[in-house]
Amino acid sequence: MRALSLRAIKSDALLEEVEQPVAGVDEVVVKLQAASLNRRDYWITQGLYPGIVTPLILGSDGSGSVHAVGENVSDWAPGDEVVIYPSAQWGENEAVQDSEFTVLGMPENGTFAEFVKVRSSQLFRKPAYLDWVETAAIPVAGLTAYRALVVQGQLKPGRRVLITGIGGGVAVFALQFTLATGSEAIVTSSSTEKIERALNLGAKAGLQYTEANWGKRLLKEHGPCDLIIDGAGGPGYGDLVNLLKPGGRLISYGSTAGRSEKLDLFKIFWRQLHLIGSTLGSPADFEALLGFMEKHQIKPVIDQQVPLAEGPKAIADMRDAAQFGKVTLEI
Ligand SMILES: NC(=O)c1ccc[n+]([C@@H]2O[C@H](COP(=O)([O-])OP(=O)(O)OC[C@H]3O[C@@H](n4cnc5c(N)ncnc54)[C@H](OP(=O)(O)O)[C@@H]3O)[C@@H](O)[C@H]2O)c1
Repeated sequence: MRALSLRAIKSDALLEEVEQPVAGVDEVVVKLQAASLNRRDYWITQGLYPGIVTPLILGSDGSGSVHAVGENVSDWAPGDEVVIYPSAQWGENEAVQDSEFTVLGMPENGTFAEFVKVRSSQLFRKPAYLDWVETAAIPVAGLTAYRALVVQGQLKPGRRVLITGIGGGVAVFALQFTLATGSEAIVTSSSTEKIERALNLGAKAGLQYTEANWGKRLLKEHGPCDLIIDGAGGPGYGDLVNLLKPGGRLISYGSTAGRSEKLDLFKIFWRQLHLIGSTLGSPADFEALLGFMEKHQIKPVIDQQVPLAEGPKAIADMRDAAQFGKVTLEI
């Protein structure tokens, strides 16, 4: 089969012929129709995770149909149309993943291939209202946004939500989910064009985080926020607490801009703020996410759709974060 393999870290993935996987006990092989990229894929090529073993097929997100089922698998049959829950071994605790938790596409071979082998428990029915590419855009980014907003953020209608770095895949889903919930969304970006796109999707306002004093302008023009969804971290993280209402929540799901530098603890305890971390989501969160999206008929925002053969360039281009929403692969 054809697959995008990473032969060595700090190199580009390569389109190669590799052996097709075979389903073992409790496993299924899915014939992929589409996949989508995450910043994680780029970071793996750069060696920025511990314990990367090559060769490795990248990719955490995929949609397709069941090709073969292994021993013990009775709830799925060849031809079933599915979307893949992007991780394994969340464990029993809804509050946090197990120490054995893994994400598809490292260490186990991922979805940038014609076929992928996963546990049968990772399969969910493909939403009927979405096509293959839209479906493949959901897993990592949609799940991360859903858990950050709904589970950790406890989002309710009528709230004011700040979403930082709106160009990111998670951030665009967070914008769509906030609006679907009946709350208002304010976004930040380095790009006026991305702010314009967010306003067209329904954001109430957008500010450039590259401008000095954007936070003060937000407070003056819109007032403090109930909830902040942040994937950037970095030197600006400590200032985000100034933008919350007393009792507000700041949910962190990433640190694209690096480590935070300062945090005023007085503001945190006196104003009873909640600083919460969020990572992906459990299978139950994934099921709830798919139900939420279907109920609100939410379609993922696709920035670019490229053929598998152009995947290596698309992964390398993630370095510049030029996209708005998801970059997908047609397989
Ligand atoms: N915890 C988890 O389970 C999980 C899951 C998925 C992703 N993540 C992490 O979340 C982050 C985002 O991933 P992604 O795939 O959604 O996005 P992405 O496509 O990698 O985009 C990253 C975005 O970060 C924004 N950004 C960069 N510097 C910023 C700053 N100083 N302030 C605010 N925004 C800034 C940029 O927004 P603009 O272009 O608008 O300027 C950029 O588009 C990554 O760090 C990723 O590793 C974590």
